[in-house]
Amino acid sequence: MAEAKPAVDKKVLHKALNKRGKTKKDKYGVMSYAIWIGAVIALIVGGVVILIINPEKKPHQMAVNDDLLIAQINSVSTLFKAGASAFFENWSIGDVKKRAGIGLTNRVNPHQCNVNTKMKMPAEFDAREKWPACFKHPVYDAGNCTSTWAIMGASTVSNRFCIQDPNTYSALRLSPQTSLSCDTLNRGCDGGDLDTMWFHYEKEGLVTEKCFPYTADPDVGCEEKCNDEQPLKIVAHCLVHSEDGIKREVLQNGPVVAPVTLNDDLLVYKQGIYKPLATAKRLVTDRRYPVIHAVKIIGWGEKNRQPYWLVENAWGEDWGEGGYAKIAIERDTKDKDDHTKSVVLSYCFAPTPSNKVMEEQSTAGRGGDEAKYEADLDLAADDLLAEDEEEEDEEEADEGAEGDDDEEHAEEDVALDE
Ligand SMILES: *[C@@H]1O[C@H](CO)[C@@H](O)[C@H](O)[C@H]1NC(C)=O
Ligand SMILES: *[C@@H]1O[C@H](CO)[C@@H](O)[C@H](O)[C@H]1NC(C)=O
Repeated sequence: MAEAKPAVDKKVLHKALNKRGKTKKDKYGVMSYAIWIGAVIALIVGGVVILIINPEKKPHQMAVNDDLLIAQINSVSTLFKAGASAFFENWSIGDVKKRAGIGLTNRVNPHQCNVNTKMKMPAEFDAREKWPACFKHPVYDAGNCTSTWAIMGASTVSNRFCIQDPNTYSALRLSPQTSLSCDTLNRGCDGGDLDTMWFHYEKEGLVTEKCFPYTADPDVGCEEKCNDEQPLKIVAHCLVHSEDGIKREVLQNGPVVAPVTLNDDLLVYKQGIYKPLATAKRLVTDRRYPVIHAVKIIGWGEKNRQPYWLVENAWGEDWGEGGYAKIAIERDTKDKDDHTKSVVLSYCFAPTPSNKVMEEQSTAGRGGDEAKYEADLDLAADDLLAEDEEEEDEEEADEGAEGDDDEEHAEEDVALDE
């Protein structure tokens, strides 16, 4: 194809020269015309050749640990530093998108957490410092499995058993493999729903890592679980809203499970306070729903007037600050439908372990939350596998289940914008 270029040039030139005569002025005009055409053709040919020999140019095939992206972030970002992590070695952006699958069914109506509104709120809080006996285990490495829903769930329940009774449960490490292999309401390594995963903990309970070690292998069956261990159950779970509500729940009872959206720059976060750059690219599925990931909120803080959540992730200890991150709390998201900025979404889930000592609950009204909750859940939609619906209805005595027509959401996506 490249050979065609001079031929076209000559032909065009010749034709044009014959037509217009041969004055010096005209010749220059015709020549520049020919050069323009030649340049356009060369660009097209070059573009095609680059696409053929270098398919890496497609965005989803870009490496997560892209050197250029990392350098660009480090040159402009004042709040956080970027770097490659071992977890994403050889992963492309497309590989991360393929791991979408965490969502909400929008078919159950979890209770609102009854947070203590009278508690004095510290400016900074770190659950690891408040309950050191309960945070002795390293962070998880989820591997190539959409398991953060199960990892964050099991790990939050473990923390909360220990917070209630550190003498008995400081070594407790409940295994996410229990839900990955045994929770028929969810989808194992293909994902799970943050609002229905708790039913399995309530009904069947969780066994420990020793009994059923976590592997990122989608083919591990429930029968591989040991059968000489009494699973630990939760007695309830609840949903908590707003920055203030989430903080109070964490302060009072321990970590919560938080859904987050993913941007390309979060994947290479190394240290500091992560706040999406203006150039950040949000990861979306083929159907343009944001890819949802689950983390655990263990505290908060503020530095240089930038408030942040302290979160635990499951991308190994090499990612972020030893596996943890500080993620900016974005208070200036005025439009509640504008989820482009808030990486940590505005709601979290909190389980109540069966050893929870019930205190006198605050009955202070938090009336505004109900409407806010409905609004947020309306933004989120997902489906349940048809065969699971009966099971769910049976388990969920709550008559408040939404009557939304969510059937069109045939994939494991969460519709948070649009
Ligand atoms: C990444 O790819 C390189 C080259 O193919 C290979 O040598 C290396 O072992 C891979 N790393 C991982 C973690 O798979
Ligand atoms: C993850 O596993 C799938 C197959 O289940 C494979 O297609 C994909 O390439 C794997 N991704 C990585 C990053 O290893």
